[in-house]
Amino acid sequence: MVELSIDVATRERVGEGGGLVVLGCLEGETPDFGGLPPDLAATAARLAARSGWTGKEDQRVETEVVHGSLALALFGLGGAREFSTRAAVEFVTEAVDTARRGGWTSLVVAFPSHAAVRGAEVGERLLRQAALCGYRYARYLSEVPNGGLQRAEILPPRGDEEAYRSALGLARAIAAGVVTTRDLANSPPNEATPAWMEDRCRELAASRGLEIEVVQGEDLDRRGMGGLAAVGRGAASPPRLVRLRKAGRGRKVALVGKGVTFDTGGISIKPAADMDEMKYDKGGACAVLGAVQVAVDLDLAVDLSAYLPLAENALDSGSYRPGDILRLANGKTVEINNTDAEGRLILGDALAWAVADGAESLVEVSTLTGGCAIALGPHAAGLFTPDDELAAELLAVGEASGDRLWRLPLWPEYLEEMRGTHADLKNTAGRLGSAATAAAFLSQFVGDLHSWAHLDIAGVVSDKGDKGARGATGFGVSLLASWLRRCAATSLSAT
Ligand code: BES
Ligand code: MN
Ligand code: ZN
Repeated sequence: MVELSIDVATRERVGEGGGLVVLGCLEGETPDFGGLPPDLAATAARLAARSGWTGKEDQRVETEVVHGSLALALFGLGGAREFSTRAAVEFVTEAVDTARRGGWTSLVVAFPSHAAVRGAEVGERLLRQAALCGYRYARYLSEVPNGGLQRAEILPPRGDEEAYRSALGLARAIAAGVVTTRDLANSPPNEATPAWMEDRCRELAASRGLEIEVVQGEDLDRRGMGGLAAVGRGAASPPRLVRLRKAGRGRKVALVGKGVTFDTGGISIKPAADMDEMKYDKGGACAVLGAVQVAVDLDLAVDLSAYLPLAENALDSGSYRPGDILRLANGKTVEINNTDAEGRLILGDALAWAVADGAESLVEVSTLTGGCAIALGPHAAGLFTPDDELAAELLAVGEASGDRLWRLPLWPEYLEEMRGTHADLKNTAGRLGSAATAAAFLSQFVGDLHSWAHLDIAGVVSDKGDKGARGATGFGVSLLASWLRRCAATSLSAT
């Protein structure tokens, strides 16, 4: 199990031990917390009665140390009508930041009674946030600032103690999966080569008892995987396609993740500005690995396969060129007009393998287009699928998990734009609608499978926020894990 930087728990009473206790209070309400002993409740009430306290959003009152080594803080959460689950997640983040800045080693966050924070699903999300918001990729830092906070506990809203307690195991497993994904995606491209990523896959397979198969070198040619072979040809670390499997009862599910360890754009080279962010171009593969870890740790009843095409899109005399015509694993030919549209080429080969293996449902995750990032910004990933039922499932688990999706179209007009002149397809149709034309391209590699979806995570894979929080988000782990839990539940009830 990956170590969480902050351990989380639920708690029914405050009182023992020391630390910072942060009470979230809704505007105009007297603070009312189930697990607060009378003397602490009295202190809280005295604090609230102080001049000017209303509980409006962003209002903060802190005490000096009270009752031994405990300090109290009141955070205004604003009006009950506007309060939301997302605001509650923000509140946890702020409470953790406050505790870290104050040098506390332990923290208790208490919630008022409100529909937005009720139930196990929200409990899981808040616990997960508490475990993750102190995350930092510290492998290359000589000094880790503010590393003191070790424990964050949540005091559930009155009556929700059992629901929150039942969510703890899930929150820990998903948080650990997100940490795996963030650590991998944040790893720099001089370390995280395709060979290194394969090693990480082998480690996960060994520790979790997964089957692993790796296709590389001449085997790529033998299997006709001309997209992956071409894209990875210019790099010192050769391309490879990893398949991880955990055979099991239940629905046969495939996950596919784009694993471009660095994307220079190739001969159609990218501009210099922000090119360093192209280390996150492996973020889809990293999210899939994190989700597989969670699925195994929760022992979900699904027959799970994961396909990770790994390549570096480098610039070299061996690189593939505009004008080249490639044949991908399902036999379709592709005329290259821009070597920066490399993701769809390696994904075409991976999708074809997943479908040949007999996947019943498939979700593919990739940092595929800047166009999707432009359309949705950092707030949602693009969802493309021809299957309305799968769309509804994914949108629902996306909303509940916090990994939001927004559906975009797969109309035939987009596919028409992708027809080649001297080959079946070309690899780009320019910048207009590039997220949708890319998705249309992918649709040509799933055969007759209807239950498939493409998630374009280009806009959400990393956070450009302030220095500490900057880096990979782990977007997709919680979403995919929740979807797999749902697959497991539905396939069990079907049998
Ligand atoms: N990896 C990029 C997409 C990307 C851009 C991810 C920005 C994250 C942030 C992808 O390989 C790419 O270069 N796509 C091109 C496609 C275009 C040539 C049709 C793009 O979006 O510009
Ligand atoms: Mn590219
Ligand atoms: Zn790319």
